[in-house]
Amino acid sequence: MCGIIGITGNGPVVPRLIDSLKRLEYRGYDSAGVAAVVDGAVERRRAQGKIRNLEAVLAEQPMTATVGIGHTRWATHGAPTTANAHPHKAGRVTLVHNGIIENFAELKAELAAEGHVFESQTDTEVIAHLLDAELNTGRSPLEAFKITLDRLTGAYALAVLIDGTDDLILGARRGSPLVVGWGEDEMYLGSDALAVGPFTQKISYLEEGDYVAVTKAGAQMFDVTGKPVDRAVVQVSASSAMVEKGEYRHFMEKEIHEQPDSVQHTLSEYLDLVTGTAKTNTIDFAAIDRIQIVACGTAFYAGQIGRYAFEKLAGLPCDVEIASEFRYRSPAVTQKTLAVAVSQSGETADTLASLIWCKAQGLNTAAVVNVHSSSMARVAAVLWPTHAGPEIGVASTKAFTAQVAALLALAVAAGVARGRIDAAREAELVKALFESPRLIAEALTMGDSIRAVVQDLAKADDVLFLGRGAMFPLAMEGALKLKEISYIHAEGYAAGELKHGPIALIDEETPTIALAPLDDVFEKTASNLQEVAARGGPVIMIAPEKAPDLHGAGIRRIHAPDCHPLIAPLVYAVPVQLLAYYTAVQKGTDVDQPRNLAKSVTVE
Ligand code: F6R
Repeated sequence: MCGIIGITGNGPVVPRLIDSLKRLEYRGYDSAGVAAVVDGAVERRRAQGKIRNLEAVLAEQPMTATVGIGHTRWATHGAPTTANAHPHKAGRVTLVHNGIIENFAELKAELAAEGHVFESQTDTEVIAHLLDAELNTGRSPLEAFKITLDRLTGAYALAVLIDGTDDLILGARRGSPLVVGWGEDEMYLGSDALAVGPFTQKISYLEEGDYVAVTKAGAQMFDVTGKPVDRAVVQVSASSAMVEKGEYRHFMEKEIHEQPDSVQHTLSEYLDLVTGTAKTNTIDFAAIDRIQIVACGTAFYAGQIGRYAFEKLAGLPCDVEIASEFRYRSPAVTQKTLAVAVSQSGETADTLASLIWCKAQGLNTAAVVNVHSSSMARVAAVLWPTHAGPEIGVASTKAFTAQVAALLALAVAAGVARGRIDAAREAELVKALFESPRLIAEALTMGDSIRAVVQDLAKADDVLFLGRGAMFPLAMEGALKLKEISYIHAEGYAAGELKHGPIALIDEETPTIALAPLDDVFEKTASNLQEVAARGGPVIMIAPEKAPDLHGAGIRRIHAPDCHPLIAPLVYAVPVQLLAYYTAVQKGTDVDQPRNLAKSVTVE
């Protein structure tokens, strides 16, 4: 979950390491550090907290160098202190790491018995000591590196500097992503294309177990067995311009407002606007009898919304499971199951492991991912891209709606392929989907009415979100969004479930937010809201203007655009996101980088 960058070239490297780390900060922001070769010796600067703290350290103690590495950390082993900040150093070796070394305790004990002294509580530091010990036996850097890697269990992406070499960065990946960037007389290592985006768009993706020696002239790559390999150089489009905040106060606000475009782009991948039909050729939906979706967090809720559509429109049984549970419980799968991973990053460790497991069982696999070059995109037999563009805010917004849009469109395609949807119904559903960008744009104008309720919301300790049908997973997503950026405790419930326990939480201080589009269960949801209001609970009902008035004391209305029930999760996602956003702004929290979180969860 940490971010890594390495640059070897001719120009001053430290400001560019910092520039890149800022782009990687979404991967973690517990501490940051850089190391660079200064007059033949490796020096490092580190700071607890965000990158601006590291910049302050560098202003006091500048470094001038043409070769360097950098890291932004999401703490796993060891508190987020300066001592535990990367780069870690032992003897001639200085390195940065993303991942978890599972056998670090036994390696550390072995090294300590040999007299190695450790200065941090991290798992990473053992790698530096192991490599230094191998170098001390007289081996070349590459030989010593390979022997060191073979001793590690767990996940890593590494970038390594060695004292005495002035144009060399060693890199390796297993379980965590690492790319090689190709420049003009300059080379790069980075966690992803975004990290090297300001410098180059020519990328090689290292494969599982690969390691590499990078100099400014090029890269020598090796596979897990030590055999020299070439990994294709591909052109990516992670331009630096795409990740500016522009006129917005936060990336999250900007990303919420980008949703008409991101949903439109994503739908265009799966639907044909001209013919009004769904593209059914990516997979043979008639040849499968079940879908198993695996995902984490917000992507899991997108998967659950997809499930309602696959079952309703295509008659396809669909299970959705949190990947960290799925991968460890020996699930019973049938050979005609299509396994679908849903992920913004395409790197989430549990989702990736679940996908790999499904593939190993011989299942057909697909990945709904936003990063099209990610590990999941490459592992799955079929790539189902979302086109949300880079999402920088840690709380997912536009990636979520892009996932939902893709899954809804695929459900229509499945319904057509399985003979469940005739041409007239297909045209109706495709038209409804293509109306969603306009209705999302309309929902974005709800800001004022939402701002009017956040004063009260920001004072609450607990908030309930209710919904039925596809609004139930959206209610859970709303609760997740609110808790992660405003730190208010929130839960999402199926509205009908309230009376089976959660209603005991209702009092004058506990707001209930109801997602109530005018669908075939509106009346049922309305009854549940009366039950809340009757017990003195304040209710905020988000529903179209033409929905009947509930006349309950304490029931406030926020008008949402009226829409086809299929696209209600896309349209209602906007007020849900705006509620969380404005509440967080009201509370003054760090909206784009909420405490304890990271964007790309590459550890389990
Ligand atoms: C919440 C959020 C997370 C992610 C989850 C999965 O706002 O962003 O819950 O959805 O960590 O990440 P991806 O989609 O990258 O697999």
